Amino acid sequence: MSKKGMIFSGVQPTGQLHLGNYLGAIKNWVKLQDTYNCIFCVVDMHAITVPQDPKALREATRQTLATYIACGINPENNIIYNQSAVSGHAELAWILGCNTPLGWLNRMTQFKEKAGEHRESAVLGLYGYPVLMAADILLYKATHVPVGEDQKQHLELARDIAGAFNRHYNKDFFPIPEPLIMGEATRVMSLNDGTKKMSKSDESDYSRIALTDSADTIRKKFMKAKSDSTMGFESLDNRPDAENLLTIYGALTDTDMKSAQAKFRTAGFGTLKKELAEVAVEKLSPITDEVNRLMKDSGHLDGILKRGAEKANAIAEKNLSAVKQLVGFLEV
Ligand code: TYM
Repeated sequence: MSKKGMIFSGVQPTGQLHLGNYLGAIKNWVKLQDTYNCIFCVVDMHAITVPQDPKALREATRQTLATYIACGINPENNIIYNQSAVSGHAELAWILGCNTPLGWLNRMTQFKEKAGEHRESAVLGLYGYPVLMAADILLYKATHVPVGEDQKQHLELARDIAGAFNRHYNKDFFPIPEPLIMGEATRVMSLNDGTKKMSKSDESDYSRIALTDSADTIRKKFMKAKSDSTMGFESLDNRPDAENLLTIYGALTDTDMKSAQAKFRTAGFGTLKKELAEVAVEKLSPITDEVNRLMKDSGHLDGILKRGAEKANAIAEKNLSAVKQLVGFLEV
């Protein structure tokens, strides 16, 4: 069967992956892996835009790979590798950066949020990160990019950068990549505050469900999740915490929001939280167990990354060589 196109996506190996990463991204990758040619990257070069401990970064890289596999990504049929193993990402990022106006980067809300008041001391890598992300995608001429909602703006920039390159060199060289923002939970919110995104960098462990949490911890975290004082879930107007828990329930059980709402129409938060915790334990515990099992054999994991990098590199080198031709670099 011919495939529908080329997918590229990735997760940063920083801290523990969480339910947002799973529902917003990896769960969808699993669904897409048979119908597209897929490259799933562990984006370690993105991770160093904020300080990392080298030993912890290596472990987190393996753990991110283990999580991909434990969630159901098949390492035989897809290319899985870590970004730093393919030098083409950095090379293409430089070339694309020479075609990216600062005004475009100044619009990126994630940089503004992350740099906050410390704009002057924020590093160039954090500012240029969306150009590296565009390079990741375009290096493989990816046509589709499955991500959570929070990456939409970066994806739009990648499309603009692809268009700018094509216009500059007067050639339809890069496909304009399509975002695939899928499923019931494209933006999973913090369990402490339904108006804030669930994130690895939140100080509170109780704000997120990590994919390495034990069954007991998962139960505890859901039971402590923020509630409101309204009984029932018929109306979700101005009820971000209620909406978030129902969204997670819907995504974990593959039901739409309307059915989830109907199921808990007259229930209280306690009932919803209990059922949600059980569903989460049922879905996530096998993943956690498998991650722990895979992490015992780092040689096996490193072998998968090595083979993936070789395959990725073969595609990257071919595309990068064509880019260099267009740009006018003399290859002797
Ligand atoms: P990262 O590592 O922050 O997140 C990885 C994936 O998880 C999704 N995600 C969420 N989805 C729903 N709700 C949430 N609370 C939530 N938090 C995270 C993200 O949207 C993402 O899909 N820059 C990217 C990584 C990257 C990339 C790329 C992605 C680098 N190059 C090229 C696609 C294509 C990032 O930091 O994701």
